[in-house]
Amino acid sequence: MSMDFYSGRQEILNVLKGVRAGDLPHLIHWMKTTSDFDEFTSSNDDVILRSIAEDLRQRLPFEAMLSSEQFAIQKLNQQTKPTIHIDAFLYDDDCIDSLCEEGKMSRNFCLTCGSSHTAPLEFISHSFSLVELKFLYQHVLPDLTGKVLVDVGSRLGAVLFGGYFYSSAPHIYGVEINPDFCKLQDIIISKYQLSERIKVLNADICTQAVLLQNADVVVMNNVFEYFLDRSEQARVWKFISENVRKKGSLLVTVPALENSLSDLQVDMQLSQWVEALPLHYDVFPEEDKEALEQIHLYRIL
Ligand SMILES: C[S@@+](CC[C@H](N)C(=O)[O-])C[C@H]1O[C@@H](n2cnc3c(N)ncnc32)[C@H](O)[C@@H]1O
Repeated sequence: MSMDFYSGRQEILNVLKGVRAGDLPHLIHWMKTTSDFDEFTSSNDDVILRSIAEDLRQRLPFEAMLSSEQFAIQKLNQQTKPTIHIDAFLYDDDCIDSLCEEGKMSRNFCLTCGSSHTAPLEFISHSFSLVELKFLYQHVLPDLTGKVLVDVGSRLGAVLFGGYFYSSAPHIYGVEINPDFCKLQDIIISKYQLSERIKVLNADICTQAVLLQNADVVVMNNVFEYFLDRSEQARVWKFISENVRKKGSLLVTVPALENSLSDLQVDMQLSQWVEALPLHYDVFPEEDKEALEQIHLYRIL
C-alpha cells in the first residue's frame, strides 16, 4: 500500500536518523542539489489527476452512470451490440485487466444467455482517458496562455482537470446539464483548490451563447449522441454552429463532425464554418491509436 504524506515524511526522517553522523552532511547536500528526484516531480500532474480519479471512483457506482440520466442508460441498453459503459478517466486498461483477473468483470458476454464468455462486449466511455487528455493538451492544442476553453458537457470534469494540469489556460469552463455531475465536479474543484481557473455551470449549452462566442477553444467529446434524441441533437448542433464563430478559434470533437452530423437533419455548410486541421496520432504507443484517432481538430473560419 502506498504511504500518505505524513508516513512518507516519517520514513525519510527515519532513514536520515540511521545514516552515519560523518556521512549525513554529504547525504543532505545530495538531497538538496540532486536531479535524481526529477522523475517524481515531473509526473506530479499525472499523480494528482490519478488521485482525482480515485476520489471520483469512491463517490460513484462502478458503472459511473447516475439514476438521473435514465435516457442515457436506455440508449446504452438499446445498442445493437451488448455495450457497457466503463469510464476511461476512472478506469484505465490496467485497472480493467485487474478487475477481470479478480473475476469482478468480464470483457465478454455469452451469445446465448447474455451473461458471460464467448464474444467481446462493446465498451464506451463518457469521459476522456488520461492518455487522451495528454494528447489533447500536449499535442492537439497550442499554448493556451491567456485563452478561454469551454468543455461542452463536462460530466466528471476530466477535460477541465486535464486543462488545469496539462495546459496554461487561465479560464476553463465546463457546462453540464446534469446537476448531480455539477455537484461532483464542484466537490473536486474545492477539494483540490482549482477554482481560480475552473468554473462549472449547470446549464443546457443552448443557454450559453455568450460563453461560446468568447471561447478560444471548444471541446466536444461525444456530447449529444448518447444523451439527446435526434431532433434535439440537430437543434443543439445548429446552436453550436451559430455561436462558435470566433475567427481562428479551435473546435475539438469526438467523433469527426461529419460523423456526428451525418444522420441528423441540420441545415449547415460545414465547409463554410470550419477547416479540418491534420493531427499526428502516432505520438503514443500503438495500443492508444484507435482511441486517439477519434479526436478531431477544426479551425473556425
Ligand atoms: C460524453 S460526456 C463528455 C464528458 C467530458 N467532456 C469528457 O470528455 O470527459 C457528455 C456530457 O454532456 C452532457 N450534456 C448532454 N447534452 C448537454 C447539453 N445540451 N448541455 C450541457 N451538457 C449536456 C451529458 O449530461 C454528459 O454528461
